[in-house]
Amino acid sequence: MCGIVAYIGKREAYPIIIKGLKRLEYRGYDSAGIALLDKGDLNIYKKQGKVANLEEFASGKNITGNIGIGHTRWATHGLPNDINSHPHYSNDGELALIHNGIIENYDILREELKSRGYSFVSETDTEVLVHLIDDIIKTEKVELVEAVRHALLNVTGAYAIVILSKNNPNQLVAARKSSPLVIGIGEENEFFLASDATPIVEYTKQVVYLNDEEIAVVDLNDGLRILSITNQDKTPYIQQLEMKLEALEKGGFEHFMLKEIFEQPRSIHDCFRGRLNAEKGWVALGGLKEYEQKMINANRLIFVACGTSWHACQVGEYLIEGLARINVEVEYASEFRYRNPIINENDIVIAVSQSGETADTLAALELAKSKGATILGICNVVGSSISRITDAGSYTHAGPEIGVASTKAFTAQVTILTLLALSLANKKGTISETTFHTMLADLEAVPDKVKKILDSDAKIKEIARIYQNASNALYLGRNSSFPVALEGALKLKEISYIHAEGYPAAEMKHGPIALIDEEMPVFVIATKGTSYEKVVSNIQEVKARKGKLICIVTEGDTQVKDLADHIIEIPDTDENLVPLLATIPLQLLSYHISVFRGCNVDQPRNLAKSVTVE
Ligand code: F6R
Repeated sequence: MCGIVAYIGKREAYPIIIKGLKRLEYRGYDSAGIALLDKGDLNIYKKQGKVANLEEFASGKNITGNIGIGHTRWATHGLPNDINSHPHYSNDGELALIHNGIIENYDILREELKSRGYSFVSETDTEVLVHLIDDIIKTEKVELVEAVRHALLNVTGAYAIVILSKNNPNQLVAARKSSPLVIGIGEENEFFLASDATPIVEYTKQVVYLNDEEIAVVDLNDGLRILSITNQDKTPYIQQLEMKLEALEKGGFEHFMLKEIFEQPRSIHDCFRGRLNAEKGWVALGGLKEYEQKMINANRLIFVACGTSWHACQVGEYLIEGLARINVEVEYASEFRYRNPIINENDIVIAVSQSGETADTLAALELAKSKGATILGICNVVGSSISRITDAGSYTHAGPEIGVASTKAFTAQVTILTLLALSLANKKGTISETTFHTMLADLEAVPDKVKKILDSDAKIKEIARIYQNASNALYLGRNSSFPVALEGALKLKEISYIHAEGYPAAEMKHGPIALIDEEMPVFVIATKGTSYEKVVSNIQEVKARKGKLICIVTEGDTQVKDLADHIIEIPDTDENLVPLLATIPLQLLSYHISVFRGCNVDQPRNLAKSVTVE
């Protein structure tokens, strides 16, 4: 949450920072601001709302300077208004600072600083940082970097910060703890700093991911220096970015979400490419291979995640328990970390996260590690915090996901979990060779089947048009289609603001059935499989109460067709792989309903993509 970007070099900083902020806007869009150093002047421009508002506010002004910082905010402390926008500045206007994270002891620090004569203009936790650094510079008579280091020793919480100083016109000082920060290395002491690599990739592929409790100084004359907050010099570890610039553009689609839904044949394929060969009959997740025996011997596999990633883990539980007969638990990371869970060395805790930065998921892993468990990760963002703190892991290779509502990351996570379940089952001998080979072939065929579902977009759009004004919706599914129902409901809620609930189909009669009347759309995953007849009975129960039935069925189905108001057909596949297909029409339905309702599809209200606060 919150995106930060900064530049130092020979070019004009403003266009680089504005473009960078647009790339990071998925992290928060309550307000945006920029500070630039220009011939000894520190100029700050801030505006409530999206980066476009800031751009409009700045247009016509002669904004120049080769050093600057920028911020796009997801409000935590204080309303989303101009004053609470970042950058925040010291009382004497010498320092400006941007921050992503939360300073937990800000209240005490604020009172202390007030008693020392500092005045606060905003309601944010961030403002204490800039005054604290300023106070240390003045009282301890130390250089900026030393003051930042001393200040951070007094701070609890999470931060990624960048500081601009009038008295240090050749440098930027940055630091991180529990919030991400990447440094792009350009030519001749030119540096790009950002919350992720998306604002950087256009200019350089060489990056350094700052570690927790590290401070970076980027200097026009002296280049890059990294030190720890305990004052030890560190050698920067330079990595090569593999991200492609086209992946960050809409590529002719109206919204990123639609583009990302339509990318799924490719993203699912990329996810299993080189990890699966149906013809030769093998599957291998390189990053996790050496932990497979440990997983087979483990007490339990505990999956920790949030939101959509938690739904993917739920699908994983059905797959791994069902196929590999290994005990799996799925936990909300936010609950797990605070409920004093029983964990020991024989447990394996696996975090699943698109961003790899979700604060609760990271904290759950840290807790598990402290109890001696093996910690593994399944992430999309390469170089993210989760991928760096885990013992091993696998990347989903879905490519950058920019729409705030997760789509292709979910199907990629489910693909990895399917590969893992198959690999473990094969190694453990809990499925026959024939089942193993058939499932591999079925998985390999998924991208083409997804393509076929995407071809029915026009029909799905017409169904969406009919239900665009619904106030509530129910999603039902059984077995591994139950988490798909949860995911379908979440997608609708978050982008169209229609209240929606996902339920195991049979649970409906234990309460939610009371909600059903002729106004209630009920989306049911009713594909062929072990519970098909039971789900058909649930459909009958909805129909008897005049609910509107929109059913996802296997191609050629006739039974449900006769009962439902609308059917959406998906190709036949192994029952375990249905989540990868049934999810697609639900994503499209939510997308079109959101567009019909005039909602902001890619940046839904109150949300941010990377939740780096608890
Ligand atoms: C919903 C959505 C969120 C995320 C959740 C976890 O569409 O995107 O629910 O799934 O915030 O994020 P990651 O996967 O980055 O840990």
